Amino acid sequence: MKITLSLSPAAQVETECLVAVVLDRNENNEKSKPGRPKDDKPAPFVSASDKAVEQAAAELLSSGDVAGKSFEVSWIHKPAGLKAKRLLLVGGGKAKSFSATELRKVAGAAVRALKPRNLRSLAFVVPEQLQGEEALKAIVEGALVGNFDPDTYKSDRKDQAVESVTVVGSGNQKALQQAVDEGRIIGESQNFTRELVNEPSNRMTPTILAQRAQEMSKEVGLKCEVHGADKIKELKMGAFWGVAQGSDEAPALIVMRYEPAGAPEKPVLGLVGKGITFDTGGISIKPADGMEKMKYDMAGGAAMIGAMRAIAQLKPKVKVIAIVCATENMPSGKAQKPGDIQTAMSGKTIEIINTDAEGRLVLADGLCYARQLGCTHLIDAATLTGAVVVALGYANAGVFASDDDFYNHFKAAIDKGGEKMWRLPLGDEYLDAMRSQIADLQNTGGRWGGASTAAAFLKEFAEDTPWIHLDIAGTAWMENEKPWIAKGPSGIAVRSLVEFAREFGNSTKA
Ligand code: BES
Ligand code: MN
Ligand code: ZN
Repeated sequence: MKITLSLSPAAQVETECLVAVVLDRNENNEKSKPGRPKDDKPAPFVSASDKAVEQAAAELLSSGDVAGKSFEVSWIHKPAGLKAKRLLLVGGGKAKSFSATELRKVAGAAVRALKPRNLRSLAFVVPEQLQGEEALKAIVEGALVGNFDPDTYKSDRKDQAVESVTVVGSGNQKALQQAVDEGRIIGESQNFTRELVNEPSNRMTPTILAQRAQEMSKEVGLKCEVHGADKIKELKMGAFWGVAQGSDEAPALIVMRYEPAGAPEKPVLGLVGKGITFDTGGISIKPADGMEKMKYDMAGGAAMIGAMRAIAQLKPKVKVIAIVCATENMPSGKAQKPGDIQTAMSGKTIEIINTDAEGRLVLADGLCYARQLGCTHLIDAATLTGAVVVALGYANAGVFASDDDFYNHFKAAIDKGGEKMWRLPLGDEYLDAMRSQIADLQNTGGRWGGASTAAAFLKEFAEDTPWIHLDIAGTAWMENEKPWIAKGPSGIAVRSLVEFAREFGNSTKA
């Protein structure tokens, strides 16, 4: 998608479709509904610096047909006083709570309103309420995210992509252009992750995932090494290999490094991703119903690869290393079995109770390896547990943090990226559930608190390194289409990770 910045007055922009945000002035909690505004209910308004846009929409808005509620769309053809062929009004909800997070979604909703209508370009008017770089960046990110549809293998792809977006703003051209460029890098990287996650397991094996990481690394100037089974065994990654041994597909240990000139030796951020390209459950096999979804069990790894793509281009002055442990989890004559004991890279022994709790096994060795490579701070992302979906549903990813200061900085990045994540507890009580009679740990806890027992297991491998764990099982795949995003892979965590890495060098002392 081509993205350009325009500093012209909105009325002067020649486009198929000018998009403006409509906001609801009412501040009460009552849900806005269309209907003739009463005296005590002010009509919604267009948030644009150019009064000509307001005027073009004035008649429609005073009619009471539009409420300004979130993602409500209305079209005005041949809008009076504008050079645009159409004016598309998109609701942004209550004016008082309108923020960059809503604006990002509104931009996505605008693109998704155009896609099925055979319109290929739009010009988005930066709302008057939310001027500046943050707004432009959000619009660009949202537009890119909205433009993605997962119907890759349909012979007649119905939704044609929007080809060109112009952001119509005002201010310092250089600063605004930089914001547009940043938004493009982040939005495209999130979509890169979504493409990887969308691929089925026969077209996204560990080997192919590694190839995609290598190609991308070459393009953006990252170092990328891919190791196979020999190296995994040589490193004594017994937990990772225990999962990989059951599959005929070769595993891949993907290591990507961003080491910019001038970056301090420390801190070093380590990103560790679960890259299970298909999770059958192994010998503890999953039910057939819904198993096709387990192609997205590499979403954590794909998020790390997408984040590295953006980091390499945004160039923060700090070292970042990403590790993706990629393998299938298969039942076979070579597969590990319940009761087996594996020795992890750290030396800890693990009794395998359930071969379907494989994510924590590959991550255990990934975290240990990241520490060995010198990472001073660790973040992992994984579609780790069904239990996190029970706890938080599809709305929030689970966050676990061993260090409050690290968490607070990460939380700021979550909010900046406009993602939804909720902190869940760690604690010795949860680790108690992971004690084995025969070994140091077992790989499952009891019935309850499954997201926290899984996190407690991982913490044993992060040891004393400040660590954050993101359980994205419920959020990596959109179960329903939303106005701003398609059903399918979401690319969750990419934006938060990138925003965090950008601030990391400034905010954290090793
Ligand atoms: N990949 C799954 C978790 C998952 C569930 C991801 C639903 C996406 C949607 C993970 O490997 C798994 O199977 N976890 C088990 C752990 C259990 C055996 C302790 C689970 O959550 O059921
Ligand atoms: Mn599993
Ligand atoms: Zn899994």
